[in-house]
Amino acid sequence: MKKNLVIGAMALASLSLSAQKSATIKIDINEGKQIIPKEIYGQFAEHLGSCIYGGLWVGENSPIPNTNGYRTDVLNALKDLKIPVLRWPGGCFADEYHWMDGIGPKENRPKMVNTNWGGTIEDNSFGTHEFLNLCELLECEPYISANVGSGTVEELAKWVEYMTSEGDSPMANLRRKNGRDKAWNVKYLGVGNESWGCGGNMRPEYYSDLYRRYATYCRNYDGNHLYKVASGASDYDYKWTETLMERVGRQMHGLSLHYYTVSGWTGSKGSAINFTDEDYYWTMGKCREVEDVLKKHIAIMDKYDPAKRVNLLLDEWGTWWDEEPGTIRGHLYQQNSLRDAFVASLSFDIFHKYTDRLTMANIAQIVNVLQSMILTNDKGMVLTPTYHVFNMYKVHQDAMHLPIELKSEKMIVRGDRVVPMISATASKDKDGKIHISLSNIDLDNTHEVTINLAGAKVKEASGQIITSKNITDHNTFEQPNVVKVQDFKGVKLSKDVLTVKLPAKSIVTIEVK
Ligand code: AHR
Repeated sequence: MKKNLVIGAMALASLSLSAQKSATIKIDINEGKQIIPKEIYGQFAEHLGSCIYGGLWVGENSPIPNTNGYRTDVLNALKDLKIPVLRWPGGCFADEYHWMDGIGPKENRPKMVNTNWGGTIEDNSFGTHEFLNLCELLECEPYISANVGSGTVEELAKWVEYMTSEGDSPMANLRRKNGRDKAWNVKYLGVGNESWGCGGNMRPEYYSDLYRRYATYCRNYDGNHLYKVASGASDYDYKWTETLMERVGRQMHGLSLHYYTVSGWTGSKGSAINFTDEDYYWTMGKCREVEDVLKKHIAIMDKYDPAKRVNLLLDEWGTWWDEEPGTIRGHLYQQNSLRDAFVASLSFDIFHKYTDRLTMANIAQIVNVLQSMILTNDKGMVLTPTYHVFNMYKVHQDAMHLPIELKSEKMIVRGDRVVPMISATASKDKDGKIHISLSNIDLDNTHEVTINLAGAKVKEASGQIITSKNITDHNTFEQPNVVKVQDFKGVKLSKDVLTVKLPAKSIVTIEVK
């Protein structure tokens, strides 16, 4: 698709008038007020397709190299990402999951039909122990998403006791019988998932009451403090947030939100790798719209909770394309191109701005499902372009967010969304290093970005870049390094001013010392 079909009249005018593509950024390195919580870089693993089975878990007896049943290659790649929090077991699966089916000797565990995801038979060989031990290996916080749609209050109360009680309690003793003496630390507990849809098709008024009831019996055992998350809205459903804030209020610590970069819930969502330039620019607009959605949900929360005691958790986000041809229907296996990398970088640039309310975000999903970090087959694994963005951006975890003033060219894309060609974010880490991440979404032009660091004493600047020849480029088992991270040489330093030549379709992170 030619660009002039994509760009609206206003943007065309602005592009043709400018001889040089350029942008300016101003950063006051002493302006930071808000730490970017590392949980913004959270992940999500559902019993869906080959996310758990084949992706994370192959079992101890598998010919695939494994560490106590976890794929060793995947485990090592995930350790590098410094994952702060992992949400499990769903998604929609969570509201049909009965945790007691997933404990005890594997041969005795009952099977079930995974009705949400292709009718696959679930053998429950990956359960509570396997998940919580994985979190310990990854050194991340577990985020349990509990069954409210089809489970009982008693079932949930006992799950909490099983995981977290240290005493001589019936569930702690059952856990011991199953081989785990010490209780796990479990902080995050989701009380239901998408309760407006696959989690029970409830109205917000009804769910609010149900939340209050279920949450009451989720106790804090032996020094473990639960952080309870109510099932929140989808995308533009502001009434759900309003009702929950009004009726549940401070009985929740967090309220969730789901926002997918998807082009409609029915019919074709488009191919992950065969798409036009116009599709690409549409995606940039749709992904950036999360900012408006966040602002509106946050404004409602501010009205009921000006002290910001209840957090917003975007516990599902990312791209949703058609399943790859030839893969199992309902398993949501999709490829991941440089376009997905931009969805990740642009999203983080936005999330960093709202962390006084938005304290967690979990991309959907960690392996082999939707916008994943990793794709696997029997022989090996592939790191996706999205993985590389998460890896490059991890320097922002727990760093001080530095607000920026950014001026760049803009374009209007399909759907009448205005999209700046340059997106950016900056932070200062605990050692005083400044990291500036820049995305140039322009498919055709280099943009020269002048970054004014307002009097900062800068000695050196270095950078890394993610780019590729085509926006549709992606990594495969045959060619795993088409899109990768490379050293970036396009940054010049003069006193407190950086001049960065950002190639077309590139994502760069600069470290300034
Ligand atoms: O991530 C896939 C699905 O998307 C989840 O199971 C559900 O919560 C959402 O609709």
